[in-house]
Amino acid sequence: MQFSSDTNAQQGHRPLSRDLQERTFIALKPDCVQRSLCGAVLGRFEQKGFKMRGLKLVLPTRQLAESHYAEHAEKPFFERACRFLCSGPVVASVWEGRDVIQISRKIIGATNPSESAVGTIRGDYAAHFRRNLVHGSDSVSYTHLRAHETEAD
Ligand code: TYD
Ligand code: MG
Repeated sequence: MQFSSDTNAQQGHRPLSRDLQERTFIALKPDCVQRSLCGAVLGRFEQKGFKMRGLKLVLPTRQLAESHYAEHAEKPFFERACRFLCSGPVVASVWEGRDVIQISRKIIGATNPSESAVGTIRGDYAAHFRRNLVHGSDSVSYTHLRAHETEAD
């Protein structure tokens, strides 16, 4: 799929370098779908200028939730986090852009909505850390929730 964020190409501007492009995995958790906030949340990433490379509605199995939160397997909240992720449909998405992993984490905001800044997704829409609407990968290994099956190309 052609990368098409360079709107000035016809005016002789050099195309943006693709060298620093990366991809991240963003999941809209069941509370986001249930509260009909998917459009608003996906819009934050579009408005920033990132390109959507995949989008899929999934109903995570327990096994998928456990692999998604594998890094937290020993934490006391692991069980509750897995149960919540399986509690309803999740929108899995893949986004591309420069520094998209780090910038997306900023757009999402701090894990605990009482600490997330106004203007972030969690700061604007979430009120509890177990209902914090969005997952954003924090490293290049964004394979959680089978992201590769979500990508358009
Ligand atoms: P974590 O990866 O620390 O947060 P983030 O989503 O910001 O990367 O934790 C994963 C999810 O686990 C988090 O979004 C909500 C849940 N969670 C709890 O339920 N209790 C907790 O104390 C923490 C830290 C997280
Ligand atoms: Mg995390």
